[in-house]
Amino acid sequence: MGEKKRIFSGIQPTNTPHLGNYFGAMANWVKLQEEYDCTYSIVDLHSITVRQDPVKLRAQIKESYALLIAMGLDPEKSTLFVQGHNPNHAELSWILSCYTQFGELSRMTQFKDKSQKHPDNINAGLFTYPVLMAADILLYQADLVPVGQDQMQHLELARNIVQRFNGVYGDVFTMPEGYITKSTAKIMSLQEPTKKMSKSDENPNASVWVLDDRDTIIRKFKRAVTDSETEVCAREGKDGIVNLMSIYSAATDKSFEEIEAEFSGRGYGDFKLAVGEAVADKLAPMQEEFRRISSDKAYLEDCMKKGAEKAFRTTRKTLQKVQKKLGFVVL
Ligand code: TYM
Repeated sequence: MGEKKRIFSGIQPTNTPHLGNYFGAMANWVKLQEEYDCTYSIVDLHSITVRQDPVKLRAQIKESYALLIAMGLDPEKSTLFVQGHNPNHAELSWILSCYTQFGELSRMTQFKDKSQKHPDNINAGLFTYPVLMAADILLYQADLVPVGQDQMQHLELARNIVQRFNGVYGDVFTMPEGYITKSTAKIMSLQEPTKKMSKSDENPNASVWVLDDRDTIIRKFKRAVTDSETEVCAREGKDGIVNLMSIYSAATDKSFEEIEAEFSGRGYGDFKLAVGEAVADKLAPMQEEFRRISSDKAYLEDCMKKGAEKAFRTTRKTLQKVQKKLGFVVL
């Protein structure tokens, strides 16, 4: 039997994950853990490119970590760790930054968006953010990277770095591929369905957080912006309805055809309620597990420590290989 393929992915602990994070990325993480050798990270280093409140950040790192386990990730099977607990990420990131061009980083749409949003804090970290992301992926020699659509440009940059680096030094890094579930690759805001659901949206009804209670979830879906028609179907111009169909499909495993048939002649009110209930049902077991795990602080800390050690051991090999290739003296 050959070795399992490797997977790496990460999430920022800047807020509680929303349904876009969940259906776009995290739900896949769980599905993949049986078949692949998976490493998942809470990327705290990435999160400080935007100012964070230290008390809130610390709580959110712990919350995100507990959520990974509550979603079904098994810390014995997969490696679950906090990025800042493995110093190899920052070190490889520096090295790779010397193999990344200013011009390529200037073209990153996330950099342009975030610079516009925070014009008073366009820091160098915001600019080199995708290099750190490349280091995350390449350190683990990942074959596959399960992400939402918004991260594909960063992944493409990581691929360019691999090509450039391997072109000079031989086969050092594995070429990573994106792993995307098309229907949920971009979950949209419930209030502006042409904009992606985002953690930084100021409208409280735009995003559903995975820890929202049942009533809140149902209320947010009832208020979701749709269109002036009445038919539940996936058609051009019906962004709000298509988004709700994608979410309902992800929560129930029903196809678009089945959903259209189920709500034929029933109107939007019924549909929105059904989506809200389906999402609440889907999240309920995870929320309960989250509450149970969160109260066991010693267990969580132990998992974090073991995850960090495992991550460090795996990545040390890659880093030393790189250091030797570059001509550093490796002791
Ligand atoms: P982050 O924390 O913004 O998002 C985590 C994951 O959620 C996906 N996502 C979405 N998917 C569908 N619809 C949406 N509206 C939506 N919003 C977010 C993201 O694509 C992502 O997969 N830079 C990354 C974190 C990271 C990473 C990595 C990912 C750091 N290093 C290495 C993969 C590999 C980020 O900020 O994700």
